[in-house]
Amino acid sequence: MTILVTGATGPIGRSLVSRLVAAGVEVRATSRTPESAGMPAGVHVVGGDFATGQLSGEALEGVSKAFLFPALGGVDGFLARASAAEIEHLVVLSSLSAAREHERDHGSFSSTHHLAIESAVQASGIPHTILRPGNLANNLLFWAWPIKTAGTVEDPYPTSAQTLLHEADVAAVAAETLLGDGHLDKVYPLTGPEVVTRREQLATIGRAIGRELTMVEISPRTFRAQMSHFMPPPAVEMLLDCWSDTVDQPDIPLETVAAVTGRPARGLDEWATDHRADFVQARD
Ligand SMILES: NC(=O)c1ccc[n+]([C@@H]2O[C@H](COP(=O)([O-])OP(=O)(O)OC[C@H]3O[C@@H](n4cnc5c(N)ncnc54)[C@H](OP(=O)(O)O)[C@@H]3O)[C@@H](O)[C@H]2O)c1
Repeated sequence: MTILVTGATGPIGRSLVSRLVAAGVEVRATSRTPESAGMPAGVHVVGGDFATGQLSGEALEGVSKAFLFPALGGVDGFLARASAAEIEHLVVLSSLSAAREHERDHGSFSSTHHLAIESAVQASGIPHTILRPGNLANNLLFWAWPIKTAGTVEDPYPTSAQTLLHEADVAAVAAETLLGDGHLDKVYPLTGPEVVTRREQLATIGRAIGRELTMVEISPRTFRAQMSHFMPPPAVEMLLDCWSDTVDQPDIPLETVAAVTGRPARGLDEWATDHRADFVQARD
């Protein structure tokens, strides 16, 4: 069996590729820059860019299942090709925001994008499973620079609390869904195992790197002004809405990772330990 992994060079994709290789599956991977994809030995990397619709002719040859990364710009071209190739099972990376459980999700940047991806997959008629991760712990990598350089992080909602999810758990669910039985037509909402405040999230990173870190509360307005250099305004508003909501109504942990994989979801301390190198200055 050959499985195609798109978005293979991202944190979820890399973890998924490793799991599939370890399971003895033949893996094909796409990248917009295949020459520098850095995949494990034996993985055949081909060119693919969903935004431009370019996909190597080899990408789907002999492939029976695929993992679909929800690229900005859409996946319609890929789905047309996957449908023509009669793919048996597509596992789709979406987002919990597509469930629109909260008022803030209606019309949000993430919800709108991921719902469009889910609708396109549905319309393609390809048998599929949808994975809907909540907030990824990797979002905390945004703190890497202030932690490395100052040990102080500015944050507008230190007491808000989320259930951050390790990328390895999304990959573990994707691998099980691709390799196991009984996952067709399922939608899996995924979260981390515990509710942790933003202040405690920073302290967890501090423990992992052996440094005391400081959080300074700033106003949402200051945050907005700072972020205008890095993110489009709808993405900034989505973050602020999520944090302000989760001050009084923290995220609720779900058991889906454990139910699908048979192993509890990884806690934030494990994520911080795995990502220690991201938060310390490299020595010359
Ligand atoms: N952040 C959250 O809290 C959150 C919550 C729910 C869901 N999600 C979903 O999870 C995703 C992040 O996953 P991740 O961290 O593993 O991925 P990532 O690092 O954001 O991206 C994965 C890979 O996708 C490829 N890619 C980007 N644009 C592409 C395009 N136009 N066509 C083809 N490939 C493209 C890139 O590979 P190459 O450069 O090699 O082409 C990139 O390395 C988000 O984009 C979102 O959809 C995130």
